[in-house]
Amino acid sequence: FFKIVVLASGNGSNFQAIVDQLQRRILADTDGAPVLAPVAGTGTPPVMGALVFDVALMITDVPGAPVIQRAWSRGVPTAVLPYDAYESIEAHDAHLIDAVQESHADLVVMAGYMRLVTPAFVRAFAGRLINVHPALLPSFKGTKAIADALEYGVKVTGVTVHYVEEEMDSGPIIAQEAVRVLQGDTVDSLAERIHAVEHELL
Ligand code: GAR
Repeated sequence: FFKIVVLASGNGSNFQAIVDQLQRRILADTDGAPVLAPVAGTGTPPVMGALVFDVALMITDVPGAPVIQRAWSRGVPTAVLPYDAYESIEAHDAHLIDAVQESHADLVVMAGYMRLVTPAFVRAFAGRLINVHPALLPSFKGTKAIADALEYGVKVTGVTVHYVEEEMDSGPIIAQEAVRVLQGDTVDSLAERIHAVEHELL
């Protein structure tokens, strides 16, 4: 098993893309032969080459976030760890580290996780912690990257997938793809095209 843990705070379209893309790849690799089972938590995980992928856990910090419903409907175990239930961010992340370690994660994906994780968390999963960001880093760091890029007036923005280091939205870049800003774009219209690229790139 190659176990993937996803951290997400909101809508969860990237979480869904990870789960659904793994299934689609397996179908493609097997010429559509019916070896496919739902990802994670429901019995047989999909097989890709010699690797068996399992989206072992989705962790969110936001009770009621739409990503929870997406996880449930795909049989992915879910943990909800709201920050206000802890004395400090360090206490929260100590629990977060435990939850990820208990799931034996090979890869931790921050897919729309809107909180800065602590240095302890970054150290615990160094080299297997990645993030998707809706801009061409190092431009437009932060949680409003799409709106910030539009407001700045750039003609090209994009998507970055990168290893996570302690400083916000920093770390070695794994993949990047550009997205053109079109005349008349709104945050919503630009976000729609950026999300589509995120789902493929991730
Ligand atoms: C995505 O666009 C992701 O890149 C962004 O939040 C969105 C989550 O969408 N992340 C950040 O801005 C992190 N700095 P989703 O919940 O539908 O996957």
